Amino acid sequence: MEPEQEYDRRSSSNSKIHYLHSADKKSPKIKKNSAKKSSESNRQEACGSSLGTVNDFVKNSLPSTPVYCIRPSVIKKAVDFFMQKFETAKNPTEILYSVKSNPDRQVLARLFESGIKNFDVASIVEVKLINELFGDKVKMYFMHPIKSRESIKEAYFNFGIRDFSLDSFDELHKILDATDNSRELGLHVRLSIPNSHSAIDLSGKFGILPSESVGLLRKVRASAKRLGICFHVGSQCMDPVEYRNAIMITKEVIESAKVNLDVLDVGGGFPSIYPGMTPPNLQSYFDEIFDSVNQLNLKKDCKIWCEPGRALVAEAGSLVVRVEGRKNNMLYINDGTYGGLFDAGYPGFIYHTKAIRVSKKSALSSQKDAFGFYGPTCDSLDTMKGPFYLPENIGEGDYIEIGQLGAYSRSIRTEFNGFNKNIQIEVKDEPLESMYLSSSQELSNKFKF
Ligand SMILES: Cc1ncc(COP(=O)(O)O)c(C=O)c1O
Repeated sequence: MEPEQEYDRRSSSNSKIHYLHSADKKSPKIKKNSAKKSSESNRQEACGSSLGTVNDFVKNSLPSTPVYCIRPSVIKKAVDFFMQKFETAKNPTEILYSVKSNPDRQVLARLFESGIKNFDVASIVEVKLINELFGDKVKMYFMHPIKSRESIKEAYFNFGIRDFSLDSFDELHKILDATDNSRELGLHVRLSIPNSHSAIDLSGKFGILPSESVGLLRKVRASAKRLGICFHVGSQCMDPVEYRNAIMITKEVIESAKVNLDVLDVGGGFPSIYPGMTPPNLQSYFDEIFDSVNQLNLKKDCKIWCEPGRALVAEAGSLVVRVEGRKNNMLYINDGTYGGLFDAGYPGFIYHTKAIRVSKKSALSSQKDAFGFYGPTCDSLDTMKGPFYLPENIGEGDYIEIGQLGAYSRSIRTEFNGFNKNIQIEVKDEPLESMYLSSSQELSNKFKF
């Protein structure tokens, strides 16, 4: 097992605390039976909620390392939303969870319990992890457009994976070669499409230009059992029309190539909600997708897939950090850009925050001020500009709950300077912000567009 997926349970006082430390390679592996047992008891906890709140945990435990707080009920809500609404009467649909957004075992178990049975994997390590956890109860799709020969071989022969993405003739030949010219393949041509309204642009590195894709599509059609087209509108896509534009580009290329599709995969990109980035409601994304899909002349059995990562897990997870020092309006906290806050550094994401004071000295001020963060390493790049709005008298020993960190946090941590030790618990309270408010009234009040 790779260190990234490894966790052990060292807490004797609280079995719901999971200590996560990628450097510790000697942690005991979870055996299949015990995994079964813990997922059963987890399910009971999620329903009956013996879980506590973030505040309770911080006040009782005074953690000195960062803490991931995962909300199983919010994972369930997000999965239910996708399963109910990513639907059209005209074509069958599938939801593939994008493992890279959070490969934590506990999170994966919650997704599985909530109904996720399809996984978009991007490396052989992810393949092994999903196989170890769920075996043949799930299906995996290797949706990385450029893979090593060894990983294709292993995925195909040892793990029964039949679906691969690609964006070039070279990759097509590699896949055919590595699978002994299999006639069983689902091959998905990744198009490069504009990512103009997304926080994270994914259009440069992968994807074939639509204008150059016709020959590849025809060649793949001739080699594959199932031909798919996939694309990614960019992560945290703020405009649902981007999906319509991508689907219309798809329409043009399949008409030029005169090929029939077996799968149209609209990828990830579905947003979460951050300060300064309040997207339109998720239903409007699905409306754009299915309205435009209906303008394509697809076969009835052509499947429509999506590969959400962020939208399924972001708001289910908070990261609780402690303030170790303050200089003016910069707070020195115990996690940073080399840990769970990478996106607060380089792409400059701002997160919802909530201060928690455990010392009795004085109450936190109701007056808020704008703060930036310094992470714990010695590198000056370990800086997060924010602004993060927090009580003006926040200082050493106070804790900060940082919301929307169920995605692209746990998976990105490094061990730089030895600061990768952290713990994870499950909690029952509401997230700091939500895309999945329960009533339509709440939704219409919240999203004005
Ligand atoms: C191929 C692929 N699918 C799905 C995703 C998930 O995207 P998101 O988290 O924006 O939904 C990614 C993210 O990089 C990706 O590369």
